[in-house]
Amino acid sequence: MHIIAIANQKGGCGKTTTAINLAAELGRQQQRVLLIDMDPQAHASLGLGIRERCLQGLYEVFNHELSLEQAILPQVIQGVDLVPATVTLAAVEPLLTDQPGRERQLLEHLESLKNRYDQILIDCPPSLGLLSINALRCADRVLAPLDAGLFSLDGLQQLRGIVGLLEEKYALRLPVEIVLTMFDDHTRLAQTLLGHIRQLWPGTLHDIRIRPTVRAREAVYFGKPLCQYAPRSTAAADYRRLAAALLAAAQQTAAGPSPTTPCSGLENDIEDINMSLSSEKALRQMVVLTFSDIECNRLQLAGDFNDWVPDHNVETRKLNGRWQKVFTAEPGVYEYRLLVDGKWQADPTNPHEIPNDLGGINSLLQVPAQL
Ligand SMILES: Nc1ncnc2c1ncn2[C@@H]1O[C@H](COP(=O)(O)OP(=O)(O)O)[C@@H](O)[C@H]1O
Ligand SMILES: [Mg+2]
Repeated sequence: MHIIAIANQKGGCGKTTTAINLAAELGRQQQRVLLIDMDPQAHASLGLGIRERCLQGLYEVFNHELSLEQAILPQVIQGVDLVPATVTLAAVEPLLTDQPGRERQLLEHLESLKNRYDQILIDCPPSLGLLSINALRCADRVLAPLDAGLFSLDGLQQLRGIVGLLEEKYALRLPVEIVLTMFDDHTRLAQTLLGHIRQLWPGTLHDIRIRPTVRAREAVYFGKPLCQYAPRSTAAADYRRLAAALLAAAQQTAAGPSPTTPCSGLENDIEDINMSLSSEKALRQMVVLTFSDIECNRLQLAGDFNDWVPDHNVETRKLNGRWQKVFTAEPGVYEYRLLVDGKWQADPTNPHEIPNDLGGINSLLQVPAQL
């Protein structure tokens, strides 16, 4: 079992695209692959055509309601099983904060899957909180996609800091390989960034680059990996080569020794880092709104917490005829409305209301700091 975490704190640098396409290529190369979607935005799940918001996924695993095995969707594409994410995954970090060994939770869940997969790929969220730390803690190597932007480089610097601490604390070697994505070397900025990378982290830049192509964006839209959607595209060929290179590297790693004994003395460093990283996230609360007496075919929710885009970042559940809306929000007071079979209205089950600028009524929701 070879585990690759795909991480960079910066969003939009190609983590999910890399996770999906590497998984697909490794699956095609007869590897047994598990892709774990560790990002509450669930883009890896969406990009593989899992259009319905999955009702259960990693959140329930961390919450001990499901085993990791029970959360697996088998064979979403050839050779690839998926552990999907749901928006509730954002609430995992506060949940983990109080647990002993909080950065080892995923590692412990993965124990039960030993020998079932050749390759496990973890698509990390665009932050270095406890979700990413859990992914890094069990990884054999880290792939850090990098686009031509200063923020990507900054994200990489922070990633390497965390990796360094994990390596010291657990006496392991966790190689970080930088994969350039959407990188146009003709610009002066790109050349400057390349110079910085070679100087700061010699030998970490992967030879294989993922060339920019509009096909990559289209493939996501159609919920397919490039090898299915546009097998002759440049990026499909790049991911094919990257998969082959990783397979060769994994075989080498398997042949070599891998120290696992934790060393002491650095406990406090990592604890401090965990604390500071997770305190930011710990503010976000999971909100569950239940509507008992609304008869309709479609109930959507929009408010300040999702930029008034109906059901954006909201998970819908229907239990015994009752609608439930689940999302996360920072503590505060929010205005919202319902869209009931396409018609806007205030929430009839909530007496707290306020007039809005359009002459209608908005409902008020208070999210306390501690639920
Ligand atoms: N090689 C590529 N060429 C063109 N667009 C790409 C390429 N790789 C990724 N993209 C696009 O860039 C955007 C961000 O990629 P994504 O993988 O979602 O990044 P992240 O997971 O780091 O946030 C998406 O719209 C994706 O389709
Ligand atoms: Mg992503």
